[in-house]
Amino acid sequence: MRNEFIYQIFPQTFYEIGNSGIGNIKGIISKLDYLKDLGITRIWISPVTKSPFKDSGYDVQDYCEIDEKFGDMKDFEVLVLEAKKRNLKIIIDIVFNHTSNKHEWFKRALNNEEKYMNYYIFKDPIDGKEPTNWKSKMGGSCWEYVPKLNKYYLHLFTKEQPDLNWENKELQKKFIEILNFWREKGVDGFRLDVCNLYSKPKVYENDLFGDGRGFYTDGEHIEEYFKMLNINVFSKDKEIFTVGEVSSTTKEKSLRYAKTENEQLDSIFTFLHLKVDYKDNNKWSNMKPDLNSFWELQKEWQTCFQNNNSTLALFMNNHDQPRAISRFGDTINFWYESATSIFAFTSLMRGIPFIYQGEEIGMTNLNFESISDFKDIESIGNAKDLLNTLSEEEVLNILRAKSRDNARSVMQWDNTENSGFSKTKDLKLFLNENYKRINVQSQIKDRNSVLSFYKKVIKLRLTDNLYCDGNINFFKEQEYSYSRTLNNRKAIIITNWNNYDINLNLEIKRNEWKIILNNYDDFNFNLIKPYQVIVLERNIK
Ligand code: GLC
Repeated sequence: MRNEFIYQIFPQTFYEIGNSGIGNIKGIISKLDYLKDLGITRIWISPVTKSPFKDSGYDVQDYCEIDEKFGDMKDFEVLVLEAKKRNLKIIIDIVFNHTSNKHEWFKRALNNEEKYMNYYIFKDPIDGKEPTNWKSKMGGSCWEYVPKLNKYYLHLFTKEQPDLNWENKELQKKFIEILNFWREKGVDGFRLDVCNLYSKPKVYENDLFGDGRGFYTDGEHIEEYFKMLNINVFSKDKEIFTVGEVSSTTKEKSLRYAKTENEQLDSIFTFLHLKVDYKDNNKWSNMKPDLNSFWELQKEWQTCFQNNNSTLALFMNNHDQPRAISRFGDTINFWYESATSIFAFTSLMRGIPFIYQGEEIGMTNLNFESISDFKDIESIGNAKDLLNTLSEEEVLNILRAKSRDNARSVMQWDNTENSGFSKTKDLKLFLNENYKRINVQSQIKDRNSVLSFYKKVIKLRLTDNLYCDGNINFFKEQEYSYSRTLNNRKAIIITNWNNYDINLNLEIKRNEWKIILNNYDDFNFNLIKPYQVIVLERNIK
């Protein structure tokens, strides 16, 4: 298995050199030493390509141009160069399920140019209405009517993000050209945005039971498309690393996409473990995370992926998820313990671990006071739908827990104005009010900080192949613990994600084990403290 630790940057809120109030590429360059010091191997950067920014850059207007708010191509080239000097590799986000409606291709499609209409999915109205009853993931219908053409076009996300028609061979060639363009710029990997949605159905029909996702997720040709990209681009250089975002994909399919022998993708992000606080599988609901389901999913997916030589991406945070510490932890009484245990426990499993900016210092969700505070288009769109049936207060409570805005506040670098993120006085982005207490500067020299613990975990994972290649096993009767075994060595990783002590029934003898990591000063074999995480190791015969 590749031995990697990957750090995700959401550029607009990472760091700014300048005073426009938006993070930029120069800002990323100036923090490369910080990232190197953290110990990671690669950086995944969310889109910096030209975009009207309806969906924070996931609506691409030009795949080969840098958006001016982030800098220019020269800046990007310097970034790659400076990263290489530090032996850090860059992964970029590739959004090939849809473009922005401002993309030249779509503009020409709207102009009735047949060639470009075939790049997208246009359908005739049925009885004067939408071709199907499917819902957009951003709220409302996923069809938009164009009076001039008397047709609807498909948009699984906002209406400003028309879906592309992957069946079109000419378009497939364009995709290859774009990926090669970035390879030539020195990029060493790609994160494929919502790639499980590329292959659309032959027949479009109403979904009588759901929102339509059953009709277009993991479509018929999806594996052909992955193979095609693999043959033409990914396999050309062994340094290239790919990770596909595949929410709502079944285990069987996920296994296939990231199975080494299948030569499609190197790994996948699956999301089931982050849906354990969805009531009836509905994101826009509030529920305490069901830790038993979380645990069962870990066991099931880890074991299957191991048995099938397939690779999972390990993550608890990204730009679309509320902060895991606020979701699974106790930020009031056990902030340090929650941050460290959630991270260590999940990133020492089998797979490729990812960190999302700010989690390494224990950044938390924001404190929203009204529905109008939210900026993210997904939150705004879904709030509108929810208000049809729920009260304002109920909707506000759901958004507070589920909105992606929680992850999109600015990085907390220090305790000065704007948390040191940008020099501008007039910050339009979210800033968490706790930045004076939670920031990089206050943790970097402190050996007992969240940041220092993250560094220890990263180092352990990257320098000891027990944690990368070791066989993973789950104990039958004991939740929240697993072992990794390699040759004559074995490690056990134990945690407790409750704010009370739990008893442990592991039948192990204390004096045989060495403590490798512990987020408390002591360790009692029978009683695991709230949000404690411990890594133990011993030799075996
Ligand atoms: C992915 C991105 C998300 C975006 C969506 C549409 O899920 O991570 O931020 O809104 O795709 O591109």
